[in-house]
Amino acid sequence: MNILLIGSGGREHALAKKMTESALLNKLYIAPGNAGTDSCGENVHLNVSDFSTLKAFLLSKKIDLVVVGPEAPLVDGLADKIDADSNLNISVIGPKRKGAHLEGSKEYAKEFMQKHKIPTAKYQSFTINTIKEGEAFLDTLKPPYVLKADGLAAGKGVLILDDLAKAKAELKDMFSGKFGEAGNTVVIEEFLDGIELSVFILTDGEGYIILPEAKDYKRIGEGDTGLNTGGMGAVSPVGFAQGAFLSKVEERIVKPTINGFKQDGFDYVGFVFIGLMSIDGNPFVIEYNVRMGDPEAEVVIPRIKSDLVDIFKQTANKNLSNYNLELDPRTAVTVMAVSGGYPEGYQKGKEITGLKEGEQETFFHAGTTLKDGKIITSGGRVISCTAFGNNVNETKTKALAMAEQIKFEGKYYRKDIGMDLL
Ligand code: AMP
Ligand code: GLY
Repeated sequence: MNILLIGSGGREHALAKKMTESALLNKLYIAPGNAGTDSCGENVHLNVSDFSTLKAFLLSKKIDLVVVGPEAPLVDGLADKIDADSNLNISVIGPKRKGAHLEGSKEYAKEFMQKHKIPTAKYQSFTINTIKEGEAFLDTLKPPYVLKADGLAAGKGVLILDDLAKAKAELKDMFSGKFGEAGNTVVIEEFLDGIELSVFILTDGEGYIILPEAKDYKRIGEGDTGLNTGGMGAVSPVGFAQGAFLSKVEERIVKPTINGFKQDGFDYVGFVFIGLMSIDGNPFVIEYNVRMGDPEAEVVIPRIKSDLVDIFKQTANKNLSNYNLELDPRTAVTVMAVSGGYPEGYQKGKEITGLKEGEQETFFHAGTTLKDGKIITSGGRVISCTAFGNNVNETKTKALAMAEQIKFEGKYYRKDIGMDLL
């Protein structure tokens, strides 16, 4: 098969590397890719939001399958456009716009969960015209108060506040444009006090496979302090979330979600990332994303032993129902090495050295690029250092050693990834 993979992060390097292990792969293109994906296939500069350019590429390279890494092209309707074009007989791993809206709008996601009786935090949504009702709803809740801008706000649109007066003031600020148009509607919800983790599924619209669960570490500072980031590390499997808990996730959340997709006519083909809170062993959905997580993909995808291209082929052929997924039982831990200053301002263009991999070690590139034969930094999150081992303790020590081994000016990483799971 000829495959086009869209994206440029550690997630895409993990997907690309796994696909290269398949005998079914003929040629892999990555748009735009990074210095890591460069050794898995051909990185291409392609403006995927310009459909006529994309279409010409798909036809000239005889692409059979498009795998979409990030959410933005999906929210923009990329899968709809490819599907609607009678000259293209190409499958897309990634939902159409209607399904992608689950990530694009928190209000829509909450309505979907309510409609399909999927456990989630109690909520109401408000606009500037109903600000008084919003304040009254806050009065009925106990602290902390959770306020969410409805639209995509670069991961910053969720506020958790201890003080009622502050929550009311923030509600006003959100309606005054604190998060731009994303905050025109605000979801206010009950605070869920529990342990967070994520479960990933791949569905062909009818059947699904459940991929390994993972826990990520979102804050920049150790002990989960400081600003939110895209993710500073991840662990899979998550020890407390096995057996009975995963069965509850499947029965109460995965099945009603897939049935909901069908009932609502999403024709959903692709990954679903379900952000969960476990409260006393019961799962509640915090959010849906319509893609794999990053850096979760850097621990989840390497744990797949089955042929990933075959999995995608079976997905495209709507054949996933009886798929027998084989997983690596070992523990994977990834530690993200980031540019100094991230998630605020940081410098780019720093040379990266020390990328020699040992056994059971993989460096997944995120913000890297090639320049004059050297690998240099080109983003905030730079290299995801993934190690395999027998347990979290041993594996996190290996991943930390990898993060220590690589060198670039300004490098920073969290040393406490996985510590809470020991
Ligand atoms: P979201 O963008 O909806 O995933 O929210 C970002 C983060 O805020 C989540 O990963 C949780 O850590 C936290 N969060 C969101 N909603 C709630 C909630 N209802 N209760 C507790 N924490 C929450
Ligand atoms: N690591 C969180 C995300 O991919 O959204």
